[in-house]
Amino acid sequence: MNKKFFKNLCALIILMPQVFICMAQKKTIEQKIDSVLKLMTLEENVGQMNQYNGDWEATGPITKDGDKQSQIRKGMLGSMLNVTGVDHTHELQEMAMQSRLKIPLLFGQDIIHGYRTIFPLPLAEAASWDMEAIESSARIAGIEAAAAGVHWTFAPMVDIARDPRWGRVMEGAGEDPYLGSLIAKARVKGFQGKGLGNTDALMACAKHFAAYGAAIGGRDYNSVDMSLQTLWNIYLPPFKAAADAGAATFMNSFNSLNGIPATGNAYLQRDILKGRWNFKGFVVSDWNSVGEMIPHGFAKDNYEAALKAANAGCDMDMESRSYIQNLVKLVKDGKVKMKLIDDAVKRILKKKFELGLFDDPFKFCNKVREKQQWDNKENLAIEKTMAEKSIVLLKNENQLLPLSKQTKKIALIGPFIKAVRDNLGFWSYQWPDDSSRIVTVWDGISKKINADTKLLYAKGCNINDSSTSGFAEAIETAKQADVVIINVGEASDMTGEAKSRSNIHLPGVQEELIKAIQSTGKPVVVMINAGRPLVFNWTADNVPAILYTWWLGTEAGDAIADVLFGDYNPSAKLPMSFPRSEGQIPIYYNYYNTGRPAKNDSDLNYVSAYIDLPNSPKFPFGYGLSYTNFSYSDIQLSTNSIKPNQKFTVSLTVTNTGKLDGKETVQLYIRDMVGSVVRPVKELKGFQQIFLKAGESKKVSFTISVNDLKFYNDKLEYIYEPGDFKIFIGSNSRDVKEAAFELLK
Ligand code: GLC
Repeated sequence: MNKKFFKNLCALIILMPQVFICMAQKKTIEQKIDSVLKLMTLEENVGQMNQYNGDWEATGPITKDGDKQSQIRKGMLGSMLNVTGVDHTHELQEMAMQSRLKIPLLFGQDIIHGYRTIFPLPLAEAASWDMEAIESSARIAGIEAAAAGVHWTFAPMVDIARDPRWGRVMEGAGEDPYLGSLIAKARVKGFQGKGLGNTDALMACAKHFAAYGAAIGGRDYNSVDMSLQTLWNIYLPPFKAAADAGAATFMNSFNSLNGIPATGNAYLQRDILKGRWNFKGFVVSDWNSVGEMIPHGFAKDNYEAALKAANAGCDMDMESRSYIQNLVKLVKDGKVKMKLIDDAVKRILKKKFELGLFDDPFKFCNKVREKQQWDNKENLAIEKTMAEKSIVLLKNENQLLPLSKQTKKIALIGPFIKAVRDNLGFWSYQWPDDSSRIVTVWDGISKKINADTKLLYAKGCNINDSSTSGFAEAIETAKQADVVIINVGEASDMTGEAKSRSNIHLPGVQEELIKAIQSTGKPVVVMINAGRPLVFNWTADNVPAILYTWWLGTEAGDAIADVLFGDYNPSAKLPMSFPRSEGQIPIYYNYYNTGRPAKNDSDLNYVSAYIDLPNSPKFPFGYGLSYTNFSYSDIQLSTNSIKPNQKFTVSLTVTNTGKLDGKETVQLYIRDMVGSVVRPVKELKGFQQIFLKAGESKKVSFTISVNDLKFYNDKLEYIYEPGDFKIFIGSNSRDVKEAAFELLK
């Protein structure tokens, strides 16, 4: 053995213990979790599965509040919600550090569409079809909230919604699984940023698992009954996308699904989420949804509710106190196995380690960072851009829009022209000094027009009463103007949680006001603020220009002014079908054909149709106009048949035939003509956003593979089936070019 080798061998033997010690110090998170678990009593385990609302604000029915602070000091709490701000979170974390094992608290909050800077409602953002912008919106919300001591947002809400009577459509991404899945991914990535452990990363929470948006009658919290094929083909894909994007947590839902409340539903939480999808995060209940299994008639008391929820895979109990009051006994009674408690607590502790809270429980408590993010002008600019991209142009006869900034007299009429906090919409935080930060429609237009343009104003009517006493003044005001802008809609608290509406027409006498103003003969632009599709048929048929302006957040007025005067050419596309009547609901574009499909809206010859209303929606999924026009050539196929292991390309040329540059979202739909189960008449399978200068043309291509043709059959196998298919490409789900191809065996 030569000298050099011997010398190296000795060095290695001497160093070895240090290596082991070093390795021992570099414990894995799993080893760290196990070392904490070993020290925990059963009571402390259960404490981690317990979440209370803070004193800041309740987002659910207020329940009896025990002495939370003493429970924190005893380690009987794993998390709190609705606690915000560095000072408040620091104070409560201090209490957690007085507990025996000093396990840090998690602070959760509904950061749904912004924290300090409020972004457009999520459904409005979905209308942008712009994943980069949507991710950026969530990223800013994450940065601002994390700077305020929040660790965890109860978002994104990824519930597919086909029923606009349901108030929570405002919170999601609309009716389509493909668009909804892309948006779920964008929002999870936005909230979580570069990953947990960064001080600007929020844990995301995909909710509400599952099928909450299919509440019967569109009535919030109502039961859900559907085939497992519909569940897997329509309602689960956005949740799978969120899980695949790395969502740290899930929240189960209030509704029962096929007779079993989601909170106590092992099929959803254990078989699908933690089993088939191998989800490693944790599941929190919705507010008191564990306890609500009693009124559901699924548990006779909180003891049984805790038993069913824990066994079904619900890891944390928000606000029902069922876990903290019963789980210890349930384990001792042998009704809940300790290994299930261990699994739940491991999942919860893992997130606390990943966030870095064991290393530094006050990591997110930084006053300098909080102040920096409190009035970030860059965030406001990004919010305005997001708002512009969310505004849908529904009609623009004779190019009434965009308006000239030199217009001499503009009448601004309606109950929302000077609305302030309404612009923030549901699930937004009303900071004490918000009003001055919010740009109203009046503000935005006042800043936009020339000095010699005169703005006239009349409220005209209230949002939701029968008084027409303001009509006369509004009519007189309109008569003095060159153009009239009427801003109507539903109040921002008319959508959101527990805000289902059986009648989704424009509320009150607002449409009567529009008729009265229209009768003056002046050119009229109507802007509609809402968190859901509304019904406004007369307006849609008689007014020359209509913008759907949702609730657009802090910079609403500036974004609206940019669109009205052409500084932004509207490009948004509807993420939900707009019904002609509540009688059509549920209405969605990816319906089944039936055995007696109507040939068109006037076919009533023993077909599936209403005798008193056309079948088609007032405005279809994917619909939205531009100030310019786009023409589509016929579709070219690289081949008209493929084998399962092949791909092919479909393409067409889009031309901007108008006078203004503009953005178009070119949409690709596919139909499987014959299946082992009936298949939808169209399914969105791709889209591309292109920007074309006036007169410019661009070839748009999509590559199609068998993966675009898969679906869950009646055995819930995810398969494709050879046969005939149709391709549709167009500017929305109705106005499309068509081609056909065959998938060979
Ligand atoms: C609410 C909502 C849920 C929210 C939770 C906490 O009831 O259903 O979306 O995250 O309670 O506020």
